[in-house]
Amino acid sequence: MESYYTLRPCFSHLLLGLLFLFPLYSSFTAAEVHYHDFVVQANPVKRLCKTLNTITVNGQLPGPTLVVRNGDTLVVNVVNRAQYNVTIHWHGVRQMRTGWADGPEFVTQCPIRPGGRYTYRFTIERQEGTLWWHAHSSWLRATVYGALIIRPKLNNPYPFVNPKREIPIILGEWWDANPINVVRQAAITGAAPNVSDAFTINGQPGDLYKCTSPSDTVIIPVDSGETILLRIINAALNNELFFAIAGHRMTVVGADAAYTKPFTTSVLMIAPGQTTNVLITTNQPPGRYYMAAHAYASAQGAPFDNTTTTAILQYKSAGCPTEGGQASKPILPTLPAFNDTGSATAFTSKIRSPSRVKVPTNIDVNLFFTVGLGLVNCPPGQRCQGPNGTRFTASMNNNSFVLPSTFSILQAHYLGVPGIFTTDFPAVPPVQFDYTGNVSRALWQPIPSTKVFKLKYGSSVQLVLQDTSIFSTENHPMHIHGYHFYVLADGFGNFNPGTDTAKFNLIDPPLRNTVGVPVGGWSVIRFVADNPGVWLVHCHLDVHITWGLAMAFLVENGVGKLQSIEPPPADLPVC
Ligand code: C2O
Repeated sequence: MESYYTLRPCFSHLLLGLLFLFPLYSSFTAAEVHYHDFVVQANPVKRLCKTLNTITVNGQLPGPTLVVRNGDTLVVNVVNRAQYNVTIHWHGVRQMRTGWADGPEFVTQCPIRPGGRYTYRFTIERQEGTLWWHAHSSWLRATVYGALIIRPKLNNPYPFVNPKREIPIILGEWWDANPINVVRQAAITGAAPNVSDAFTINGQPGDLYKCTSPSDTVIIPVDSGETILLRIINAALNNELFFAIAGHRMTVVGADAAYTKPFTTSVLMIAPGQTTNVLITTNQPPGRYYMAAHAYASAQGAPFDNTTTTAILQYKSAGCPTEGGQASKPILPTLPAFNDTGSATAFTSKIRSPSRVKVPTNIDVNLFFTVGLGLVNCPPGQRCQGPNGTRFTASMNNNSFVLPSTFSILQAHYLGVPGIFTTDFPAVPPVQFDYTGNVSRALWQPIPSTKVFKLKYGSSVQLVLQDTSIFSTENHPMHIHGYHFYVLADGFGNFNPGTDTAKFNLIDPPLRNTVGVPVGGWSVIRFVADNPGVWLVHCHLDVHITWGLAMAFLVENGVGKLQSIEPPPADLPVC
């Protein structure tokens, strides 16, 4: 663990340290460029007593943790030695004018083919906290993911007590099968893909599973009386998760790449795509304490992985359990019930910006997007295994998003290639209905399309995201690429523009890149379209994006000097 965080001392660090001794130079920004090689390759990985050929980065699961400072530049050379197409997405990085480095396949780039390579170059601008990176091609992100840690600029402190230790806690999801085969099988049958076999913490399931060995549990050694910053990331494919640590309360200090008003909790709910930074103090009697996560499953009656992953917080002074004979069983924290929406909501609603923020108030573009599932009739001559012989699908505003295959949308936009996408994504649902009521079957079959919504550079946008009860209501973690946004309010039922605006928090709403739209409810977000490019908007449950729960914003260039997307890099993969 600790090795993740030992900054290699180097000459430039020493030099910059010296410079900072002189107040004269204190305004000097010590931005660094970090070079990394990511080799995407198949490696044998053993989990749950079975060895599977698994796609990893550099043979690591989770992949490498990248540690940078606000203002630094990353140059990551990705080499694809795997048999699948791959791309890497830097989840939550704003990518100001560098959409070519964003990563979603066929949206901002064509995939890196087997044998190919591509170098992602981008700068972290005014973001601090925990982000992460993951593959953005089919279901490769099940095993191709890692942490991206953004520290404050050199000599800038955290806005909270300096932690003695920082530990990434990456929650993942594991199939006792090749995840690519799981999703391919589902695409053939039209049924929901098989649920996973385990969740993981830093790549390991923990010891509550049927078949595990001691090395399958991550042990985190701690000293008594330390303050520790846990950077919790939900990298699971299809599940929101509850997370708790036995005996230890957590003080939330950040979410996604933004600081938050501190509050203390014994449990948190984290959706795929989201990150939560918490401080804990090791103030308990020396011993062994489980940290644990299991699903928050909001869709009624839908099958889900109901297992619990664990890691062990182990006080060093408690001694090594294996030396003294029998290891004492660690204490397990209490997690809310799988369907405990009350606990999920109570937690989420406490997340606020640290102080008053500038929320856009003069709205130029008012949008209302439904998000939800659907069922389509089986094509003639096929046998479909979705409910009543149908196929599962999903949509936003009745459009089920289909990726292009011959150009990425951004390339087609930049080069003016026609026929790849259209710009008629509807601002409001084509048909209005009682979204969370009894929806007529005629509205269950969305239209497959590749539509974007155009935004003028600099426009202020309000977007209502509305869950539907088509097939089943569900909490959808909605993510916008290239942006973060203020979450002004959320609620249950249908959004009512007449009364629900009274709930808008225009003072200290949280700044996020992924919002969990409540099950059978809505969220309202606002942002300024200040980053030109093509930006995917989607549900971060991969099963839903696979079914088409996505769309894209096309943000036009502005007229100012730094208001246009940069030209594409020379090595950008073509289709
Ligand atoms: Cu983690 Cu398309 O995103």
